[in-house]
Amino acid sequence: MASLQARTLNTLLAMVVISLVTAFIFQCAFLYYAGGLKALNPFSLLSSFANPNSIMDLSSISLPAQAQWMLPASTVVLPFVQPPDLFIPPGTTLESLLEKPFHVHHQDFLDIIGLNPTLTKIADSGTNPMFHEAPVWYPPTDEVFFCQNAGAKAAGTGLNRSSVLQKVSVPQAVSVSHLRDATGQVKVDVVPFDPPVINPNGGTNYHGNFIFAGEGQGSQVPPALYLANPVAPYNTTKLVNNYYGRQFNSVNDVAVNPANGDIYFTDVTYGYLQDFRPEPVLPNQAYRLNAVTKALTAVADDQINPNGITFSPDGKYAYITETGASMAFQGYIQSRPAGIYRYTVAPDGTFENRKLFAHVTVRIADGIHCDNKGNVYAGCGDGVNVWNPSGVLLGKIFTGRTAANFQFTGDGRMIIMGATHLYFATLGAKGAELSW
Ligand SMILES: *[C@@H]1O[C@H](CO)[C@@H](O)[C@H](O)[C@H]1NC(C)=O
Ligand SMILES: *[C@@H]1O[C@H](CO)[C@@H](O)[C@H](O)[C@H]1NC(C)=O
Repeated sequence: MASLQARTLNTLLAMVVISLVTAFIFQCAFLYYAGGLKALNPFSLLSSFANPNSIMDLSSISLPAQAQWMLPASTVVLPFVQPPDLFIPPGTTLESLLEKPFHVHHQDFLDIIGLNPTLTKIADSGTNPMFHEAPVWYPPTDEVFFCQNAGAKAAGTGLNRSSVLQKVSVPQAVSVSHLRDATGQVKVDVVPFDPPVINPNGGTNYHGNFIFAGEGQGSQVPPALYLANPVAPYNTTKLVNNYYGRQFNSVNDVAVNPANGDIYFTDVTYGYLQDFRPEPVLPNQAYRLNAVTKALTAVADDQINPNGITFSPDGKYAYITETGASMAFQGYIQSRPAGIYRYTVAPDGTFENRKLFAHVTVRIADGIHCDNKGNVYAGCGDGVNVWNPSGVLLGKIFTGRTAANFQFTGDGRMIIMGATHLYFATLGAKGAELSW
């Protein structure tokens, strides 16, 4: 009996040792897989094994030329906490933040930026915000399309004139990506969509075409989703322009769920808040247009200003940026939401379990897209901010100005809309698959 107990005890001990060794090997494998190997020495491995919250020694990592560390521990206590706007941490200046614009808040950002990320200004439109929103990439011609701001005073749009859509060639942008400023070296062409998309603001790919969200104009041109042909003659067809007889407020952004193929879009009163649309007759909501039956359903009414919309690559989560803090011509209300909410997409395509995913660090988050690993990128008040799927800020592509939207334009290539500045970035990440 006693020897049986001893043998059981020995077996148990052996099992414990084996599990510990196995766990250690898996931990090493995980860290290797997570791309941290270049960061690792045996001590950091051991300490990270002992305490999952311990900080790895990152001092031996040499960063790409255009990158700099911005680890959270360096700013968690500040000698002086400045009023909200651009955040210039102690020891930095706006110039130093712009000089190395890839800000690494977490070592996992290193895989996203790759070994030699670059940021180039490829066009400058002076005071007219020509590079605002709706960036969409068309792989067959390798062109990226985008629109002017539909409501900014400096755009001269409003009730007088609809904002315009333009395009650039991505290979041309790639050819100047070794420069920091290539203004004038990349051709920007106006695209004569016909019939025109009235005040486009959001866009996505759709079965070889684009869908643009048009905000409408006055009370006679209701907001609409337009299907648009990305090649000449650039013809367009309206997909939806009313909710059972009522005009939308100003449809803002559109995304297709890769799991069910349906078209989801946000509708928000920015046209009214920018004086080019009448008083709203619907709440601000997110809608779903069934791609087959054309049935239109409201899927979320729980945000003040639902703005950008996207899905995780598997279609299981929807992300919507909430720009409640921005009331356009009525100004900013900093205590209002300015973050990203995540919803679970139920098997029947409805949204549930709204969860706060992130609150942005500068102004608001606007355009939003995932990479192929499910990391979440949003255009914010200081550039493109990137979070992992748990909402941890991994890093920023810092432009020092509002980057309302951006788009992957092929693997490791990205266009960034900086209102009057158009940027092109090269990096390590790949966008989510364009599967529709
Ligand atoms: C239309 O344009 C004119 C002159 O260009 C300007 O004076 C007027 O304020 C504009 N109206 C609106 C509603 O934007
Ligand atoms: C463009 O026109 C062609 C030819 O009439 C038509 O087949 C196609 O569906 C149109 N595309 C759009 C987006 O309207």
